[in-house]
Amino acid sequence: MTDALSPQEQGKRAAGEAAAALVQDGMRLGLGTGSTVRWVLEALARRIKEEGLRVTGIPTSEQTAERARALGIPLTDFAATEALDLCIDGADEVEQGTLRLIKGLGGALLREKIVAEASSRFIAVVDGSKLVGVLGEKAPLPVEVTAFGWEATTRRLSALGGAPVLRQRDGAPVRTDGGNLVLDCGGFAPIRDPEGLQARLKTIAGVVETGLFLGGAEQAIVGQADGSSTILKPGA
Ligand code: A5P
Repeated sequence: MTDALSPQEQGKRAAGEAAAALVQDGMRLGLGTGSTVRWVLEALARRIKEEGLRVTGIPTSEQTAERARALGIPLTDFAATEALDLCIDGADEVEQGTLRLIKGLGGALLREKIVAEASSRFIAVVDGSKLVGVLGEKAPLPVEVTAFGWEATTRRLSALGGAPVLRQRDGAPVRTDGGNLVLDCGGFAPIRDPEGLQARLKTIAGVVETGLFLGGAEQAIVGQADGSSTILKPGA
């Protein structure tokens, strides 16, 4: 089975499994979204079955909710759960040294940010291709915007130099789980002042949230193709 995986997928799996191994009995988890988190969910499900690990999770997307249910991972929500112990999520870029992130290429950024903010700890799981020296190096910045007036919001983002492009799939605009649209902004790169950019973007009424995650991942687990993983911490 392992042989059928690409080196990148093996890295994702290594990162996901290493993160799942850090989960402790009784934890309330934030369950991220994406192809790397998929491995976290599978490893968690195994631990639940084999070790009797008791956890609950709040999913950051409908996709993750569906996967978690299929795997038998108990889910909860913010009505029943005030705070989370640990959020494990993927990223599209991890800035080495700061562990600031770009997220949202999978379209789940708003829910991901709400869940991350409710979590005491945040761990990012990535393969080595996601590491960058400065944000924006490889990925455009996803910005979730309201469908109403998205054209006006696009003009505002263009005026800031963001070069926004409406995300589409099969010729139709992509809708997030919240029913919003996503503008991928490649024009802000390199993002040397992400805090300043975040503040500017949040003054635009049509902007719901951005894919800048600046609030302190405690570590990034970087999976390698050989199945090993390394841990990056801020400042290192
Ligand atoms: C979802 O919107 C994203 O924030 C994902 O966490 C991010 O795109 C990483 O996904 P992969 O693990 O699939 O690369």
